[in-house]
Amino acid sequence: METILITGGMGFIGSHTCVELIGAGYRPIIVDDLSNSSPQILEGIRRITGVSVPFYQMDVADEALSQIFMEHSIDGVIHFAGFKAVGESREAPLAYYCNNLNTTMNLLKQMGRYGVTRLVFSSSATVYDTMRHVALTEETERGYCQSPYGWTKFMSEQIISDFARAHPETAAVLLRYFNPVGAHESGEIGEAPNGVPQNLMPFVTQVAVGLREKLSVFGGDYDTPDGTCIRDYIHITDLARGHVAALRYAQENLGAESFNLGTGRGVSVLELVQTFQRVNGVEIPYTIAERRLGDAPMYYADTQKAEKMLGWKAQLSLEDMCRSAYTWQKKSMGLL
Ligand code: WQD
Repeated sequence: METILITGGMGFIGSHTCVELIGAGYRPIIVDDLSNSSPQILEGIRRITGVSVPFYQMDVADEALSQIFMEHSIDGVIHFAGFKAVGESREAPLAYYCNNLNTTMNLLKQMGRYGVTRLVFSSSATVYDTMRHVALTEETERGYCQSPYGWTKFMSEQIISDFARAHPETAAVLLRYFNPVGAHESGEIGEAPNGVPQNLMPFVTQVAVGLREKLSVFGGDYDTPDGTCIRDYIHITDLARGHVAALRYAQENLGAESFNLGTGRGVSVLELVQTFQRVNGVEIPYTIAERRLGDAPMYYADTQKAEKMLGWKAQLSLEDMCRSAYTWQKKSMGLL
């Protein structure tokens, strides 16, 4: 049974990936500094899988990370650990550059020191020029990031690619996520943002349970069919399964390779809201507000490369995303 170290494994994407790894026969180990997650997640993973995952509370940028590589024979790493709030990154760019780049560089140093050669990296569609391109392939122009957060993903990809070139025995898979939403169907784990949700779906679910009065739709005058922004929302379980496929790919292919993880379908803010209302039988009051700085009108994934080379394609629907997100929100509040 292969052992996979998951940095940031207590987070939204990390915890769901942990569940899918266990289901695929891997043995995960989590390292997380708990700066944006809660230890209860471990219990949720245990309730779903029956597995108590070994957990180390630690800053991934810390030299002490070497302890984990000394104590375990690590076969591969999935690197999620990093700050991820776009707006916050504009207010605290240094914190984002220091944390997100130092975690990546320290991880690579330890991998090189202990001969761990397989890495899957949590990147983002924000590395692309999303203002001037709509259907994004892995060859779409990059380097026009709209936030320091996006730049840290762009720079981390570069650091990892250069490391892989210098260490030809390395296999590095760079996964560029579109918009991960929803939750595990059990409702035991899900997205638990600190404070006021910055992302659309968690804000919608908090309106749905009465934690927020109404949704502000950021902009209703974009050049799109209903005037609201279009994104490629992907179910978190599909995204997590993409990481299992990426690990398998890294077993057979050396070098650094990037893949889009999306559905290939664009959905507007209002379409998501209307779908959420319909499948959950709940009203989401909203007002059309000012546009948000840095929002691109429309983009979605071209998913052909992941389908062909990873043998992976998103399977779950927007309805599944809306239903599971609501179930998680209610269960996390003891309403179910
Ligand atoms: C989606 C749409 C908003 C909140 C970001 C990051 C990306 C990834 C996902 C980390 C936009 C609109 C939102 C609200 C709204 N994060 N919206 N009212 O900005 O596409 O992507 O989160 O990896 O890297 O860039 O996602 O969910 O914030 O916004 O109208 O209260 O919903 O304007 O059009 P985004 P989002």
